[in-house]
Amino acid sequence: MDLRTTGTPLLKWSGDGLAIGLFEDDVELTAELADLDNKLSGTLKELIAEAEFKGKEGSSAATRVGSGSAVRKIILVGLGKPEGLKLDTLRRAAAISARVAKKEKCKLLGIRLPIWNDQAALTAQTIAEGAELALYQDTRFKSDTEDKGASVEQIELLGLGVQDEAVTRARQIASGVFLARELVAAPANYVTPITLAETAEAIAREHGLSLEILEREDCEKLGMGAFLGVAQGADLPPKFIHLTYKPESTPRRKLAIIGKGLTFDSGGLNIKGAGSGIEMMKTDMGGAGATLGAAKAIAQIKPDVEVHFISAATENMISGHAIHPGDILTASNGKTIEINNTDAEGRLTLADALVFAEKLGVDAIVDLATLTGACVIALGDEIAGLWSSDPEIANQLTQAGELAGEKIWQMPMEEKYFDGMKSLIADMKNTGPRPGGSITAALFLKQFVKETPWAHLDVAGPVWTEKENGYNSPGATGYGVRTLVNWAIGGA
Ligand code: BES
Ligand code: MN
Ligand code: ZN
Repeated sequence: MDLRTTGTPLLKWSGDGLAIGLFEDDVELTAELADLDNKLSGTLKELIAEAEFKGKEGSSAATRVGSGSAVRKIILVGLGKPEGLKLDTLRRAAAISARVAKKEKCKLLGIRLPIWNDQAALTAQTIAEGAELALYQDTRFKSDTEDKGASVEQIELLGLGVQDEAVTRARQIASGVFLARELVAAPANYVTPITLAETAEAIAREHGLSLEILEREDCEKLGMGAFLGVAQGADLPPKFIHLTYKPESTPRRKLAIIGKGLTFDSGGLNIKGAGSGIEMMKTDMGGAGATLGAAKAIAQIKPDVEVHFISAATENMISGHAIHPGDILTASNGKTIEINNTDAEGRLTLADALVFAEKLGVDAIVDLATLTGACVIALGDEIAGLWSSDPEIANQLTQAGELAGEKIWQMPMEEKYFDGMKSLIADMKNTGPRPGGSITAALFLKQFVKETPWAHLDVAGPVWTEKENGYNSPGATGYGVRTLVNWAIGGA
């Protein structure tokens, strides 16, 4: 699909479908739209009346224009109230435009949406993202890959001037989101620690990043007993992935992004039972997927920051080699952990990844993890929980998420709750009581970071969606990539 901005005035534009954004208030057409309406023999007004179109956010209406017209179909997209216009409303409106255009079999689609906060370039990027993300289809596991419906071949964004850089940026980011979606959607017999490492290798090769893969023995030498404890029950070998992007000039800052990379989480000997959603545990590498997706996007954007992309990838399986509940593991910072639940494995893999990241001497560390069901209970499946003892990174991430249209809510680092993780025999247990389960998980991670500013995002909810939602189709969302990219390239 080709997407570009065009300087063609609205009244001169011709194509299969023209999508027009309307606020709840100006369903009373503006002068320009009234002219367009005249040109299209009153189609706009008729459609508004017949469809009882009120401009409500998320609503749309489409109709055929009389034959011989320069525009074959008109698509109206509601934007809600103009006062509260959010950037993400435009991303979603672009997604609706693209989806309706596909349904209406429009090959050439024009999109006309308002400029957000006088920022034409950012608006163009956002609209382009929405359209690209919404048209993504994953047919890898279908035997019949022929697309039955005609697809949208070209999109032209009207009224934004020429914004080639912004459109390129949107495409780079979308390529990262698609990679994350593909990794998360593919089941555990396709995405394994080995193929995750191969994906990192492909990114390194294609975009000139450096790559270090630590094998089991390398991890042993570094004393990564927590990570290796999780990995020991699996037949597939663990892979500790460390991908590095370095700018050509001296980096403005150095960052580490860590993603939980459990390519399957059976729970281990504390096996996940019926109704636990075990069949969805292919998504337990959503953090790693977002990390690699962000690497792919950042490698193309080439910002003046150094970024380390890290994932301790493994499966959590059952076998004669698996850790027993009650075992004591020693992490690479020397801390000992009593495993009172083998299903709290993500934090064990992250513990060694955090210690590794801090040794790199970075200015900040962010980890993303499908860490707890408790976070989904607290925030639902659209919002990630954020924990940080550093207000600056917390702010940076909140803003990066806002810009990205990825919802984040900061949660408390309630130190007192760490009492629930006390062990009689080791430095700590890996699991606290059920109440506040996502908080104790964050507090556990905190034990493995000494002084580097650090934040943790629990993304167990938003990496997957059961229903169509804005620019996300049912399935993997690629959550986190856009926030990570914004965070890495922006800020002080
Ligand atoms: N991968 C799961 C968390 C999860 C649950 C992600 C549901 C997505 C959807 C994690 O490894 C896990 O099993 N967490 C346990 C922790 C508990 C044993 C303290 C949980 O949340 O139940
Ligand atoms: Mn688990
Ligand atoms: Zn897990």
